Amino acid sequence: MEEKIKSFLEEIKGFPINTEEEAENFRLKYLSKKGLITSLFDEFKTLPPEHRKSTGKILNELKQAAEQKLADAKASTHQPASISHKLLDLSLPADPFTTGSRHPISIVRKQMTDIFTRIGFVVSEGPEIEDDWHNFGALNFPADHPARDMQDTFFVESEGADKWLLRTHTSSVQVRVMENQKPPIRTISPGRVYRNETISARAHCQFHQVEGLYIDEGVSFADLKQTLYYFVQEMFGEKIEIRFRPSFFPFTEPSAEMDITCLICEGKGCPVCKHSGWVEIMGCGMVHPNVLENCKIDSNKYTGFAFGMGIERITMLKFRINDLRLFFENDMRFLSQFRSVI
Ligand code: PHE
Repeated sequence: MEEKIKSFLEEIKGFPINTEEEAENFRLKYLSKKGLITSLFDEFKTLPPEHRKSTGKILNELKQAAEQKLADAKASTHQPASISHKLLDLSLPADPFTTGSRHPISIVRKQMTDIFTRIGFVVSEGPEIEDDWHNFGALNFPADHPARDMQDTFFVESEGADKWLLRTHTSSVQVRVMENQKPPIRTISPGRVYRNETISARAHCQFHQVEGLYIDEGVSFADLKQTLYYFVQEMFGEKIEIRFRPSFFPFTEPSAEMDITCLICEGKGCPVCKHSGWVEIMGCGMVHPNVLENCKIDSNKYTGFAFGMGIERITMLKFRINDLRLFFENDMRFLSQFRSVI
């Protein structure tokens, strides 16, 4: 029996244990209830008393050696749940970690405000739920004037005489600025606006605007032109050209619509610009004297210009996006394309 015990001792020493699974196999083979060492103890009980002393000593040594080996192996092979030693390859690249990104409208709004703040415009903000005066009245829209129909309005149900509505443009913010500040005023108002329009690739019931206002002594249409020319060159590059077409807004006189060279065909003519070589990007004009007077600004002393454009439109031109609805659908396939743009 002693020979058998000694050979087991050798076997145990050479037993390879590198994983938790191998450690468990070792335990089962030698130390479990049906294991070899347990059966040796059973056999030991049958020995004649004169052999017991020396055999018992080496049998105990065998058991201790096996227990010690198992304890050491467990300490070195223990891994957090289910990660096996062999599966860990530290040289592999890490799992990709997807970061969020700015919405394209936010990217372009920031670019636009950066351009205007560089030339002294200050950003102003105001409420999205407006009263009739700030959205229409002060801006020279007479109560029954058809111009109010130009901007199909969402009215908010309200008690009392005041009519509340979702602002149809951020010109309302400029009224608030004119009421509260003395010229010179140089401000832009970026923000969300609402119009009751059927949703399509080119129109939405909510969109974003940046409107601008400059009031001081001696401000002229030439100042308006140069400011807007500077803006589009900063936004789209120096090759861009501009043109003005006469238009109508109740709050400006004269009023104009500004076009830029079509970015797709560079002015040669294509379906996007309806083969004209030009695309419209904003409305503008000299602030109507009635508007200045409505806001208690002396129209004999001061003149000013104003302009307003849709951020969606600028973004569509800049990134060649052909459907306005994409901005509001939160489709990751669309949004993730702007990850590299800051
Ligand atoms: N408020 C006009 C609009 O929303 C844009 C505009 C602003 C036009 C200022 C002229 C002057 O369409």
